[in-house]
Amino acid sequence: MSKDDIRSLPGVGPKTAEKLISAGYDSLIKIASASVEELMEAADIGEATARKIIEAAMERLGLLEFKTAEEVLEERQKTARITTMSKNLDSLLGGGIETAALTEFYGEYGSGKTQVGHQLAVDVQLPPEQGGLEGKAVYIDTEGTFRPERIKQMAEALDLDPKKALKNVYHMKVFNTDHQMLAARKAEELIRKGEPIKLIVVDSLTALFRAEYTGRGQLAERQHKLGRHVHDLLRIAELYNVAIYVTNQVMAKPDSFIPGLDSVQAVGGHVLAHASTYRVFLRKGKKGIRIARLVDSPHLPERETTFVITEEGIRDPE
Ligand code: GTP
Ligand code: MG
Repeated sequence: MSKDDIRSLPGVGPKTAEKLISAGYDSLIKIASASVEELMEAADIGEATARKIIEAAMERLGLLEFKTAEEVLEERQKTARITTMSKNLDSLLGGGIETAALTEFYGEYGSGKTQVGHQLAVDVQLPPEQGGLEGKAVYIDTEGTFRPERIKQMAEALDLDPKKALKNVYHMKVFNTDHQMLAARKAEELIRKGEPIKLIVVDSLTALFRAEYTGRGQLAERQHKLGRHVHDLLRIAELYNVAIYVTNQVMAKPDSFIPGLDSVQAVGGHVLAHASTYRVFLRKGKKGIRIARLVDSPHLPERETTFVITEEGIRDPE
C-alpha cells in the first residue's frame, strides 16, 4: 500500500519510484524524514525535485501543520516509562527510561552500561503496574556482549517465565556501521509487522563508528553517518512511541588531569549530545557501587545517584 503512495507523489515517475523503493525509501515517512541530499543521491534527481517530493510527503503525513501547545502536551502524555529496577536510577531519569526519546548511558569499561541494557530488555516486558510496558525489546549488539543467560537470570528474579522472556528479546549482532544502520531499519520493520516492540537497545552506539573511521580526516564523514543513524533511531522512537537506550564509550579529554566527570568526554561529539534526550554518565564507586550522573536533560536538573549490579540485576544499594 505504501509503495503506491510513493508512486502517487508529484514528481515521482515510475523510474524514480523504483529507485526510491530499492534505496529503502519505501514509505511516505521515510521520504518525509530524508534530507534533500539523501533523496537526490538515492533517486538520481535534482535538488528542486527532491525538495518537492519531500514536501509532498510531509504534507500527506500532516507534518507541515502546526500543533497547539495543548495538543503537544496531550501527545507527550502518551509517553511512558520503563523501570530500571533501581528506584534511585528511575527517579534520576524522572521515572525510568522514557518512550519517544533517546537515552544515552556513557562511562568507563565495566561501569554497567550493558547490564542496564539487559535489565531494560527484561523490564519492558513487565505489566505497567510493575514498571513495564508489556512490550518486547530489540537488542542491537555491536560488541558481542549480549548474554541470553543474563536475560534469563534477570527474568527469573522478577518471577517472569524465563522462556517467554527470552522469546520477547530480538537480538542482532552487527559487524559494521552499515549493518548497524540496517538493523535499526529492520527493527522498524518488525514494529510495522505488528510486533509490540517498546524498547530498542543499541550497545554500543559508537564503537563501530570509532573503529571504522579512524584518523582525523574521516571525522566529518563519521559524524555525518552517526548523525543519520541517530536521526533514524529518533524517528522510530517518536513515530512508534518506543524507548531507545544507547551506550557510549568515553575518551580522555586531552588537557585534563583531575579524574572524574571533567576528565572524560563521551564519544560522538555534538551530533550525539544534541540528539540524546537524557545523558547519564556512569562511574564505578567503592564496594561495587555505581554512580550515575544525569548530565543533560530538557527539564531535569543535573544530579547524581547510586545503584548496584547484583545477581538479580540492577538494584538500589542496601
Ligand atoms: P564496557 O562495555 O566494557 O564499556 O562496560 P559496561 O559499562 O558495558 O559494563 P557492564 O555492563 O558489562 O558491567 C560489567 C560489570 O557488571 C561487571 O564488572 C560486574 O561487576 C557486573 N556484573 C555483570 N554480570 C553480573 C552478575 O551476574 N552478577 C553480579 N553480581 N554482577 C554482575
Ligand atoms: Mg558493555
